[in-house]
Amino acid sequence: MSLQEKIEQIYQELEETKVKNSAEIEEFRLKYLSKKGLLNDLFEEFKTIAVEKKKETGQKLNALKVKATQLFEEAKNSTSSGDEQHTANDLSLPGEILPLGSRHPVSLMIRDIKDIFLRLGFTISEGPEIEDDWHVFSALNFPPEHPARDMQDTFFITKDPDILLRTHTSSIQVRVMEKQKPPIRTICPGRVFRNEAISARSHCIFHQIEGLYIDRNVSFADLKQTLLFFAKEMFGEETQIRLRPSFFPFTEPSAEMDVTCTCGGKGCNLCKHTGWLEVMGCGMVDPNVLEACGIDSKEFSGYAFGMGVERMAMLRYNIKDIRLIFENDVRFLKQFSSNL
Ligand code: PHE
Repeated sequence: MSLQEKIEQIYQELEETKVKNSAEIEEFRLKYLSKKGLLNDLFEEFKTIAVEKKKETGQKLNALKVKATQLFEEAKNSTSSGDEQHTANDLSLPGEILPLGSRHPVSLMIRDIKDIFLRLGFTISEGPEIEDDWHVFSALNFPPEHPARDMQDTFFITKDPDILLRTHTSSIQVRVMEKQKPPIRTICPGRVFRNEAISARSHCIFHQIEGLYIDRNVSFADLKQTLLFFAKEMFGEETQIRLRPSFFPFTEPSAEMDVTCTCGGKGCNLCKHTGWLEVMGCGMVDPNVLEACGIDSKEFSGYAFGMGVERMAMLRYNIKDIRLIFENDVRFLKQFSSNL
């Protein structure tokens, strides 16, 4: 067989060769590329052929060498990770377990509070975080000299016109009242901002959920009953509530609602040995607010209430420092993973 024929035969052989694992790669190297391999033999023989045949045969021999080296390199690259790849494609292996995230305690709280009020027929309303003076203060009966209108308490974006970060979600209620005719039964969850020093108990950013119910003949008894239902759903069937007189510009009368502490009245650190935990503000919507929002206060009355979501989460999960809620340390967040 001439050298050319040998080259062609081996080239053909290579076309059909498949190298699958590291043992076969080594075998391939020894057979074709090593010192004692076939290619070396061919190069030896090449030295002996007639000069006029050298050009054509040399080109073929080079092409063969390129082909063999290429095959070898390719096989090496794909099997260096190839053996592992092989196992990764084993469909009988159990799947990789991905770490499961958890819901944030604030999201959990909002979801649960929403659920309770949705069952009572409340809708959910949302509104902008950047607000104007009217929706946050004026429509809500805040007198012009009220301290909340001060830069010390509120983050202003511009003064004149007053554009600010909402300090409570009552601004959403104003927007709902301006748009909808009673009966209105809605809850407003959202993020609020107050210019306060950050401590274990307060933060400058937190969440609120406020509720609003407006219809004919809505009374304080309706408010009490709704809040009692909420407290029992939230904190357990045996929970009791008490309402203490309070003041808000937008409600009259106003009250602060407490629930019985989980210590059962025995007194603990959480309730500071009083047996009661302060949970939310509430009251009957001030007629001035109804009128400012275009609702006839002689025909309609309503109640409103508002609570801090972080505070509720702290009470429910016994979180001692509000800052933990915002730091998003995974070790903290992981503790809520069973609560999907
Ligand atoms: N908006 C009040 C606050 O931010 C809470 C509240 C809402 C009180 C509705 C009474 C009625 O503190």
